[in-house]
Amino acid sequence: MNLKDKVAIITGASRGIGKAIAISFAKAGAKIVLCASKPDLLAQVSGEIEQLTGQKPMHFVFDIRDGKKIEEVVKKTLDTHSRIDILVNNAGTTRDKLLALMSEEDWDFVLSTNLKSVFLFTKAVLRPMIKQRSGRIINMSSIAGITGNAGQANYAASKGGIIAFTKTAGKELAKRNITVNAIAPGFVETDMTAQLGEKVIEEVKTRIPLGRFGTTQDIASLALFLASEEASYITGQVISVDGGLSM
Ligand SMILES: NC(=O)c1ccc[n+]([C@@H]2O[C@H](COP(=O)([O-])OP(=O)(O)OC[C@H]3O[C@@H](n4cnc5c(N)ncnc54)[C@H](O)[C@@H]3O)[C@@H](O)[C@H]2O)c1
Repeated sequence: MNLKDKVAIITGASRGIGKAIAISFAKAGAKIVLCASKPDLLAQVSGEIEQLTGQKPMHFVFDIRDGKKIEEVVKKTLDTHSRIDILVNNAGTTRDKLLALMSEEDWDFVLSTNLKSVFLFTKAVLRPMIKQRSGRIINMSSIAGITGNAGQANYAASKGGIIAFTKTAGKELAKRNITVNAIAPGFVETDMTAQLGEKVIEEVKTRIPLGRFGTTQDIASLALFLASEEASYITGQVISVDGGLSM
């Protein structure tokens, strides 16, 4: 897949899935703009990309719930690169609790981090993408947004919301030659799932037809395809990468 000279913004790029996507896109020739909340990790990813490709990616440390900062990132990206071709809305978080124990703050925190940020960032890149008459937006949903998951009412609602948002944006933006798709990972080996504990991890594996957790590269490979020219006729889709778990 070739992303030569495409400008790609990736949120949640300091580790896990976002990091794998950033490295994949950089190897494919894209100019990378990294966003995340953890400065040390982000600097590390930036260094890895520089070592691998020679490119020094732009990187921004901020809270993805901050709409003003998002606009700043878009402005600075345009000042440097004059265009934005790809946006990957990947940043996400969890605050798992059974409904009876979930506070309004737990709800608002997860919904604003996972869902509102997707709205804010997508809106912020629309003007340059419309002007260019092209763009790719890739949103990170989850199997939880399709099937629901006990203990994750806030997370599942945010990921289900991303699916509805993706389809709506796909319909609105198709005539502008901007595609909008969502990826719905199952269980992927990252810090997020490491919190589950060994016993739960082993139990979940017994339910996955392919018998293993996904790797971050499994998700990055689909993101790379969706960002590429080869995927230009795909929009409004939610593609599961889950080892068959949602079958
Ligand atoms: N790991 C999985 O099994 C899995 C499964 C389904 C969906 N997902 C989704 O994939 C995405 C990435 O997951 P991961 O496992 O790599 O997670 P992770 O916890 O390893 O990384 C999350 C990233 O999001 C960023 N982030 C979180 N809150 C932020 C905030 N308020 N402001 C700015 N950045 C913030 C972090 O800095 C980090 O870079 C998430 O949206 C997650 O919901 C993950």
